[in-house]
Amino acid sequence: MTKPFCTIGIESSCDETAVALLHGERELVANVIYSQAEMHARYGGVVPEVASRDHLRKLPYLVRDAITEAKIDMCDISLVAATYGPGLVGPLLVGLSYGKGMAFGLNVPFIGVNHLEGHIFAQRLCDTEITPPFMALIVSGGHTSLVDVASYGEYHLVGMTVDDAAGEALDKVGKMLGIGYPAGAEIDRLASQGDPTAMNFPRPMSGSPGFDFSFAGLKTAVLYHLRKHPREKREDVAASFLASVVSVLTKKSIDATRRYHRKNLVVVGGVAANAHLRERMQVDGREKGITVIFPEIEYCTDNAAMIAAAGAYHHLVLHEAHPLSLGPQPSLSL
Ligand code: KG4
Ligand code: ZN
Repeated sequence: MTKPFCTIGIESSCDETAVALLHGERELVANVIYSQAEMHARYGGVVPEVASRDHLRKLPYLVRDAITEAKIDMCDISLVAATYGPGLVGPLLVGLSYGKGMAFGLNVPFIGVNHLEGHIFAQRLCDTEITPPFMALIVSGGHTSLVDVASYGEYHLVGMTVDDAAGEALDKVGKMLGIGYPAGAEIDRLASQGDPTAMNFPRPMSGSPGFDFSFAGLKTAVLYHLRKHPREKREDVAASFLASVVSVLTKKSIDATRRYHRKNLVVVGGVAANAHLRERMQVDGREKGITVIFPEIEYCTDNAAMIAAAGAYHHLVLHEAHPLSLGPQPSLSL
């Protein structure tokens, strides 16, 4: 029996060290993640040097665990895929160098993966029905971008944040509310117990033409409100702030999907795990005849399964590979 084509995916662009093994284009056989979040929590955000050192410490063990989980041998690996950008240069360098070394040692091809494209491939791992063309909203701690996906590998940037990413704003408001880093999931939980109409925070760029976002002003509005009303109920602040974020993300994304004559909207990245966003997008999408699709929650936040899936597609379908001279690209765009 011929052995399946096996891709190892390596992700280390920020504070998750992750390794996955994929058979063919979509059959996930191992998926291991180690989050450094707790380690960075005391600093209120990711400390790049600390992150790099920890990736270096953990990565070999995660590779070993993934191989054990998949019940394969190292020499069964046919392709190495590692994130080469965007992200923090030190953390990127660790996963990328490890991946290139592994490809060299095993004498197999290597492919560098754009982390943002990886997020889009999280959808492909979870859903067989939805294929391009579609509109994608990538909404995470580092990015808030609307991308028209004509086909996998063919992307057109429709709009992006002009300042903070949505996840970054969530994390900063979380800090104001005394929530540890990262705050998105806790704001999600608090908001479920609060009144979203308690405060009328701005809906930035909602009425402006085009598909760009801005969250810095909204974050400042929350800061000023809390200075004036320090005893405000945290649940209400979280619910009202989240209502603004969700409203802007939903309106712009659905408008862009219609403007580009797409029927499907795919929402990916860490903030796509948000229960309020998932619900509002589905409801408003249905009203406008648009199907809104989210990956399962575990594939919204950073993982290596999506990196392996993007790498396998580029190699097996688009017949691409990268030379081992490929370096990290912290500001890589789609
Ligand atoms: O995609 P991701 O894991 O890393 C980046 O590429 O940035 O996204 C992390 C972001 C953080 O800002 C975190 O607070 C946010 O995703 N996040 C959430 C939720 N879970 C994670 N935001 C809102 N609701 C959630 N349930
Ligand atoms: Zn990410």
